[in-house]
Amino acid sequence: MSKLKMGMIGVGGIAQQRHIPAFSEMGEQVELTAVQDVNHDRASSVAETFNIPNVFEDYHKLFKVVDAVTICTPNKFHAEIAIAALEAGVHVLCEKPMAITTQECEDMLAAAEKNNRLLSIAYHYRYTPEAKLAKEAILNGEIGDPLVTRVQAMRRRKVPGWGVFTNKDLQGGGSLIDFGCHLLDLALWLLDDPKPVEVMGKTYDRLSKTPDQVNDWGAFDHETFNVDDHVTSYITFENGLSMQFECSWAANIKEDHTTLSISGVDGGMDVYPVQLYQTKHGAVWNSQPNVLEENLSPGFLQAKNFVDSCLGESELVVKPDQALKVTKLMEAIYKSNKIGSSVKLS
Ligand SMILES: NC(=O)c1ccc[n+]([C@@H]2O[C@H](COP(=O)([O-])OP(=O)(O)OC[C@H]3O[C@@H](n4cnc5c(N)ncnc54)[C@H](O)[C@@H]3O)[C@@H](O)[C@H]2O)c1
Repeated sequence: MSKLKMGMIGVGGIAQQRHIPAFSEMGEQVELTAVQDVNHDRASSVAETFNIPNVFEDYHKLFKVVDAVTICTPNKFHAEIAIAALEAGVHVLCEKPMAITTQECEDMLAAAEKNNRLLSIAYHYRYTPEAKLAKEAILNGEIGDPLVTRVQAMRRRKVPGWGVFTNKDLQGGGSLIDFGCHLLDLALWLLDDPKPVEVMGKTYDRLSKTPDQVNDWGAFDHETFNVDDHVTSYITFENGLSMQFECSWAANIKEDHTTLSISGVDGGMDVYPVQLYQTKHGAVWNSQPNVLEENLSPGFLQAKNFVDSCLGESELVVKPDQALKVTKLMEAIYKSNKIGSSVKLS
């Protein structure tokens, strides 16, 4: 079987720390063929470090020598590069979020369908052992129909002090589009993609706009900071489900925590850590599995699923229409905050 020729576009932090090492471990299936980055020196240095033979200044040229690309640029460029790749007949794994606007996501989806190429988004929380167990338990009816979901993706004083995370033009938003999106995606996946009906959202930036903040993740400029550092939302869905959502980079809370909790008709669950809450034999029961540590990281499993799917040996776990829904909800949260009332989604 011939190997999948993989190209990397945007080779900063996440490309070097997660994607390139993951593909490098899959030597029997993948050949890392080419890199491109607007910072050509970085592209050359990454190519040398990871033994990647081709470095391009123009990604259109890169598309001619690969079967698939992984896009790790700032969010602003996801749609434009993904569409160009798909039009060139190249499969795409794109970093999260899929894109900043729903319209961009729709254009990406249309390009994938028109050119019959695969498009997936790097929502890697789905590959954590806890998420996989939770999905299995829900599919096996352990909690019955889900009713109420609570999501909290909370960090205490951890505004990213590096990269472009606090730049609205390049990223489209802050704590929600960077961190909250992972938990939003995971919740929607566990709930089997319910259709959102109405969204109320509130975003905050006051703490990070105030000078001289204590921050665990390096210094950032409070004057140029122009994204959200804390977001709350209430979302209702077509089948009566509701979700209370909150995420933050910089909350004044006791400690960081990630909560995804679902109450269903027959039982409830937490995902981090996995616990089931049920009633049996006239009593309430709590159970907690021994979650086995996996040798394979979520980043590797994500890369493997994408490669296997491109080679026709598997099906994508993260489908583009699902990732589009995450962007649609985030866009609605931002819009709701702007107009000061809820947003109805058709
Ligand atoms: N899945 C996760 O948990 C996770 C974590 C961090 C970042 N990300 C996502 O990955 C993406 C990149 O983040 P990062 O932390 O690696 O950022 P980074 O700033 O470290 O790297 C981005 C790279 O893209 C290059 N670049 C910028 N514009 C470009 C363009 N138009 N064409 C080609 N290259 C371009 C930059 O020169 C840089 O090398 C973002 O979308 C971010 O949201 C995801």
